[in-house]
Amino acid sequence: MSVYTKKRVSINKLRLEAVYEMRNWGRHESMLFRDYNFPNMTDKEIQQWYKYKARARNKKCYGIRNEEGKLIGYLTIREIKKVRKLATLGLVLDPNYMNKGYGTEALLDFLEHFFYTLNMNKMILQVAKFNKRAITCYEKCGFAITKEFYKLMDSQDIDLEYELSREEIYENFKTKKDRIHMGYYKMELPINEYTKRTNKNYKNVHNFVDMWKSFRKKTQYVDNNNIKNT
Ligand SMILES: CC(C)(COP(=O)(O)OP(=O)(O)OC[C@H]1O[C@@H](n2cnc3c(N)ncnc32)[C@H](O)[C@@H]1OP(=O)(O)O)[C@@H](O)C(=O)NCCC(=O)NCCS
Repeated sequence: MSVYTKKRVSINKLRLEAVYEMRNWGRHESMLFRDYNFPNMTDKEIQQWYKYKARARNKKCYGIRNEEGKLIGYLTIREIKKVRKLATLGLVLDPNYMNKGYGTEALLDFLEHFFYTLNMNKMILQVAKFNKRAITCYEKCGFAITKEFYKLMDSQDIDLEYELSREEIYENFKTKKDRIHMGYYKMELPINEYTKRTNKNYKNVHNFVDMWKSFRKKTQYVDNNNIKNT
């Protein structure tokens, strides 16, 4: 099912057959990005990966294709909270197609679908502080940093001094009890911010607080179906 098509990218629900195409993707050289390399997997493991990513509860997964129809990335929304209408984003491109504007374009297109078709209220994400390319992409789409936190790194064997400058290590990592912790930002994009940026009217009422506010402000339109679903 095609969700929508715009400009260079098209975004569709991810199908199992598309996942096999990811085997031909490029690889990140930096160890800090190794978790984003598509793993070498057997057909059976790919089926399990697909089941985990695309068929699990509270998750949706979409493939991103470029103007030539090539699968260049995928995005997921997980931890979908149906009542509060929140979800957490994951976005990964084939390394061969990074830094060409595809990530920003795909996300901007998907946000339209997220807010106006899925009727969600807010998109949330977590991004490593050192990942400046991703942060720039999210900021261009309207996300703002709401929190900073540190997490113990799963891989303690990465040679940070090989990967990053001293300043970058100092700014983005902390050592506690000889264990390296990586800094993260939580970033958020609420619908009102998205609407302001895209100059759209706030068409739908997304939960009971919004409904109450909308009555107080005497806004014009209440989507009864939507309220029934919350
Ligand atoms: C993050 C990701 C989805 C972004 O998509 P993309 O297509 O590469 O990003 P875009 O080209 O749309 O935008 C990147 C922006 O960051 C800028 N940028 C690149 N490297 C940068 C750096 N080191 N510091 C600051 N900005 C940087 C680019 O110049 C560009 O901004 P501009 O268009 O204003 O020039 C993609 O790079 C990716 O899949 N990365 C690997 C996986 C990953 O990190 N996922 C995110 C996890 S939270």
